[in-house]
Amino acid sequence: MALANRKIGYGEVVTRDLHFSMNRETVTRHWFNNDPWCTHWMNAILAAVPDGERWVMNSARRQLDKLRDPEVRKAAGEFIRQERTHAREHDEMNAICVQQGVPIDKVETTFKLIRKELQHRLSDDMQSSIAAAFEHFTAIISSVLLEHAELFDETHPELRAMLYWHFVEETEHKSVSFDVFVDASGGGLRSYRLRISGMMLAISLGFPIMIGNQAFLLYRDKQLLNLRSATHMLKVLFVKPGILSKVLAGVFPYFSPTFHPWDDDNRETIRIWKRAYEQTGDTHKAFEALVKHQPGIRTGLRTVAHPPEGLS
Ligand SMILES: [Fe+2]
Ligand SMILES: [Fe+2]
Repeated sequence: MALANRKIGYGEVVTRDLHFSMNRETVTRHWFNNDPWCTHWMNAILAAVPDGERWVMNSARRQLDKLRDPEVRKAAGEFIRQERTHAREHDEMNAICVQQGVPIDKVETTFKLIRKELQHRLSDDMQSSIAAAFEHFTAIISSVLLEHAELFDETHPELRAMLYWHFVEETEHKSVSFDVFVDASGGGLRSYRLRISGMMLAISLGFPIMIGNQAFLLYRDKQLLNLRSATHMLKVLFVKPGILSKVLAGVFPYFSPTFHPWDDDNRETIRIWKRAYEQTGDTHKAFEALVKHQPGIRTGLRTVAHPPEGLS
C-alpha cells in the first residue's frame, strides 16, 4: 500500500505574518465581485474558516509527538503558524461581514457546536484524516481561483490581496496535513481505511453545512429569489471555471491508495506570486504579477494607486 510522504515543496512553506486592512470599504456586503450568490457561497465556507483552521492546527499539534519523520514535524510547525495567521485575518473579515448585516457569526456558532462534538467523539487519527480531506478541498479551490483572478475584478484590491495570499499559502502547505496523517497513523491498510473514512465524513458534513449556511445567508439578505445572481453562481461553480465541479472531481483520485496531494504539482503558479512578493514585499503587486501571467488577460482590473497603510 503506497502511502509514502513525498515532502515536495516543504522548503517553500513560509510563515508570512501579514496584516490586511479589513473594514467596511474593503469588505463590502457583496464583496465577491458584487454578486450576492457568489458572495454568500464563499461566506458559507469562510464562516467556518477561523474555527476550522484552528481545528486543523490543533489536530496537527496533537500528532506532533507521534511523527517519526523530522521533516514532516518541521513542516507541521510552519503549517500551524500559517494557519494561525489565516484564522486571525479571517476572524477580522468575518467581523466586518457581521457589521455589514451578514450573520456569519450565527453560522459560525453552529459550526463550532458540530466541531466540538466531533473533537469529543473522534480519535486523533480520524481528526487528522478529516483535516487532510478538508485541506484537499481547500487546495483545489485555491488552485482554481489562482488561475481565475478575473472572478475578483470588482473585489476591493486589499481584500483580494488577502485572499490570494491565503490561496498561495494553502497551496504551499497542501500536502502537510496529509503527510502528518500518514506518518502519525503509520501508513498501510489501516491508514488507507482511515483516510477514506475521513473523506466520507468530510463530504457528508461539509457539503450539507455549506449548502445550509448559504441558504440561510441568502434568506437573511433577501436574495433567495435573485435568479440572475443564482444563475451566475451556478455557472461559476459548475461550468466556468467550475470551482465545485473541480472539487467534486478531485474526490475520486483521493480514493486511490497511491494518491498524494502533489500528484497535481502547481508550484509554478504560486512561484509567480512568490517571486513578485519577494521582490516588492507587496501583496497587491504579487497579485498583479499573477494576473499578468494568466492567458487572456483582461482589462478593467480594479486597483488602488496607493495601498492602504500597514499593508505588507
Ligand atoms: Fe488557511
Ligand atoms: Fe490549510
